[in-house]
Amino acid sequence: MLNKQLLLYNVVKKHKTVLEIGVYMGHSILIMLSSNPRLSIYGIDIDKKFALPSINYLKKNFPRSNLKFLEGDSIKILNKLKKKFDLFHIDGDHKTAKIYNEIVACAKLTKNKNMKILFDDADMMKSIDRSLVMSFQVKKYVKPNSKFRNLYIEIVLNKKSMLKFKIIFNFLHLFEIPQVYLLPLLKKIIRKLLSTILGKKFCNHLGQIILNRFSNIYLINVAKKLKNI
Ligand SMILES: C[S@@+](CC[C@H](N)C(=O)[O-])C[C@H]1O[C@@H](n2cnc3c(N)ncnc32)[C@H](O)[C@@H]1O
Repeated sequence: MLNKQLLLYNVVKKHKTVLEIGVYMGHSILIMLSSNPRLSIYGIDIDKKFALPSINYLKKNFPRSNLKFLEGDSIKILNKLKKKFDLFHIDGDHKTAKIYNEIVACAKLTKNKNMKILFDDADMMKSIDRSLVMSFQVKKYVKPNSKFRNLYIEIVLNKKSMLKFKIIFNFLHLFEIPQVYLLPLLKKIIRKLLSTILGKKFCNHLGQIILNRFSNIYLINVAKKLKNI
């Protein structure tokens, strides 16, 4: 995982203002401030339970920084923001449709035509990755060799490229619909069927037996699901 954190650490060194979507416990903000303690970071999170105390803790420990926490859904907040940023760290809801809307909203808040974005999970957003590369002039593209790798990209914004991005992403997204919407629905139906036919108690018991006897990761995952039916 180290290369992933190193990329974040190195990218923020030369920037002044960062907008992060998805603060959670502030681990990425800690890495950014360790690299650049004077950073101004606006962090958005829909849930303040961990994000707010983490930001307050970081404020105390990095007194030269300027940290601001914004509670709410990323798109709603982004559409209200007036401030401009040098860099965007996108690490909120990892669904591609959401990331797409976040990119479109962040594009209006970038300081200049050179938009710099760091995506936390490169392998969960292949359609976004492909659409960006196919639509914009890419000035920099870094994907480290790391587990759960991130992606840093610098693109040149203009109306034509943005339109191309919207068209390409929405086309590619059509192929993700079965995976994004139908698979969870199918899983829900299977769970319902199992609990109706076998009963909740039996499913939980079966899950425990599998957990006790097997060490295969796939069987363990199935067992955990049976236990939670
Ligand atoms: C993977 S965590 C972020 C991890 C964080 N960057 C860190 O390094 O510790 C994702 C966070 O995104 C937040 N989130 C999910 N959907 C969101 C949305 N629609 N708007 C804003 N935040 C969202 C979650 O509440 C969660 O705290």
